[in-house]
Amino acid sequence: MAQRSGKVTVVGAGFYGSTTAQRLAEYDVFETVVLTDIVEGKPEGLALDLNQSRPIEGFETTVVGQTTGLDGSGYEATAGSDIVVVTAGLPRKPGMSRMDLIETNAKIVRSVAENIAAHSPQAVVVVVSNPLDEMTALTQLATGFPHHRVIGQAGMLDTARFTYFVAATLGVPVGSVRTLTLGSHGDTMVPVPSRCTVDGRPLAELLPAEQIDELVTRTRNGGAEVVALLKTGSAYYAPSAAAARMAKAVHDDAGEVMPVCAWVDGEYGISGVYLGVEAEIGKEGVRRVVEAPLTDSEKAGLLEAAEAVRAKQADVQDL
Ligand code: LAC
Repeated sequence: MAQRSGKVTVVGAGFYGSTTAQRLAEYDVFETVVLTDIVEGKPEGLALDLNQSRPIEGFETTVVGQTTGLDGSGYEATAGSDIVVVTAGLPRKPGMSRMDLIETNAKIVRSVAENIAAHSPQAVVVVVSNPLDEMTALTQLATGFPHHRVIGQAGMLDTARFTYFVAATLGVPVGSVRTLTLGSHGDTMVPVPSRCTVDGRPLAELLPAEQIDELVTRTRNGGAEVVALLKTGSAYYAPSAAAARMAKAVHDDAGEVMPVCAWVDGEYGISGVYLGVEAEIGKEGVRRVVEAPLTDSEKAGLLEAAEAVRAKQADVQDL
């Protein structure tokens, strides 16, 4: 095991945050994982529990739990974080869209972002709070960080869901399937069937168009399907896997190309908006946005997504 290094903070100790902290700690590459929440004692209790799992799982990363106040108290424990994952905010209830959370979560995310900027001015921030594209834009505004240091988690999750649905439909290992989704983490999500392959073969050769369409629709509703089954709370195993991998790519300075919510400035002819695209991830956050070859209809879908999130991202400035 290489030398552990760096400090990563996870804000919010709900299921999403606590499973993210667990995955980050179990990678055993960070010196410290800090978990915070406004519920008194919860992050301390979960951190103690995670630390007690270390002898069994065999990882040495120290987990620190810290209750924070709405006034910013407790954020000292997060000071100097290299990476901060923001999971703060309410999850959806059955029947709600991610957009229904915008007003409540904007207040929470703005205050979290200001505290991050005050205590960890050099951090790369990975936002997962919903509605994702808007909360990512708001975090950049409230931190004042350069755009490349604020990224949102959505494409990793949506792509994983799409991949899983394709693999399960064809009865093949998930490892043999490659898929891609771009656009927003919402109604204007753009699954990209032309970039989907199974063992290198185009998906279109393996499944009829109607069935691909069904999988696309199920992917777009992937989060809502889980919410409807759980009845309280939303998905967290796949979401936390996605967020933790992004944070690890930053830590490792991996240069891995991942589908994420990133600031787009000219790519695809789109400018000045946070949007789901592929990007090369390293120590500085987004190194560059990678343009994928798209069909005309996929490109049209991406442009539509860009305009939809642009309008909503303009709204969050005043929330
Ligand atoms: C989901 C939520 C976390 O898609 O956005 O499950």
